[in-house]
Amino acid sequence: MPGVAQLSIDEMLSEARTAFEAGIKAILLFGIPSRKDPRGSEGYSSRGIVQQAVRELKKHVSGLLVITDVCLCEYTSHGHCGLIDPQDRSGRVLNDPTLKLLAKMALSHVEAGADIVAPSDMMDGRIMAVRNMLDDNGYIDIPILSYAAKFASAYYGPFREAAQSAPQFGDRRSYQMDPANGDEALREVAMDIEEGADIVMVKPALAYLDLVYRVKTVFRYPTAAYAVSGEYSLIKAAAERGWVNERAIVMETLQGIRRAGADLIITYWALDVARWLKEG
Ligand code: PBG
Ligand code: ZN
Repeated sequence: MPGVAQLSIDEMLSEARTAFEAGIKAILLFGIPSRKDPRGSEGYSSRGIVQQAVRELKKHVSGLLVITDVCLCEYTSHGHCGLIDPQDRSGRVLNDPTLKLLAKMALSHVEAGADIVAPSDMMDGRIMAVRNMLDDNGYIDIPILSYAAKFASAYYGPFREAAQSAPQFGDRRSYQMDPANGDEALREVAMDIEEGADIVMVKPALAYLDLVYRVKTVFRYPTAAYAVSGEYSLIKAAAERGWVNERAIVMETLQGIRRAGADLIITYWALDVARWLKEG
């Protein structure tokens, strides 16, 4: 991905420090494990890369809010977000057995010091599974940012390449949502709120601004939008060719997402935007 690279813990710490000093209040961590297996076990190990990173961040960058992505796809050898029957090549996930692992992963992040956990897998019932696990272990005040309305989108391509998390067979359409179906997004959000989500997210952002607006208007809940890797890369590519003015077009785009109702935007431009805002 243009301008985005995998970082070691040391590099990540200096990047996080720079971001914090530029005025960014929160970061979202994704892990790339050294070893993948069918159950994604590096994802919920206390010695996993994200768990280590969170501990270091809490030690060295105090005040920065640390959010962790909770999903198996970066850690599984098959690249799916949940467990798979080894005989089944369709990409269908085993929903309920996956919940235990996601809850375990969330707990391991919080034990390392994460301030917010963000399940991005789209299994049914995972918000409740994570909520119960955190509550049972005394973490009653740790919020859940739910990727509540996450669509099976072609806009995730650059991320999957950067995070080496593309599915090895099949696709994610058995768990992520159908881009044609907006009403289903509202049902997914309603279920996540019922299960205990504290912030609900729509993803991607730009092609789904109607849903950012509807989710905010219908539920009046803290609403996040994720401007994903494909949205970022499209503008980057055009800007590199001199076809658009990056700063102007990024600000306009983010303002549109904000105007649609997002209280919170996850974007790969965060550091640039923080600097631009400072420059005035
Ligand atoms: C993992 C995850 C993905 C993204 C965030 N978390 C990829 C996917 O679902 O395949 C995409 C982020 C981006 O494209 O910027 N479930
Ligand atoms: Zn995933």
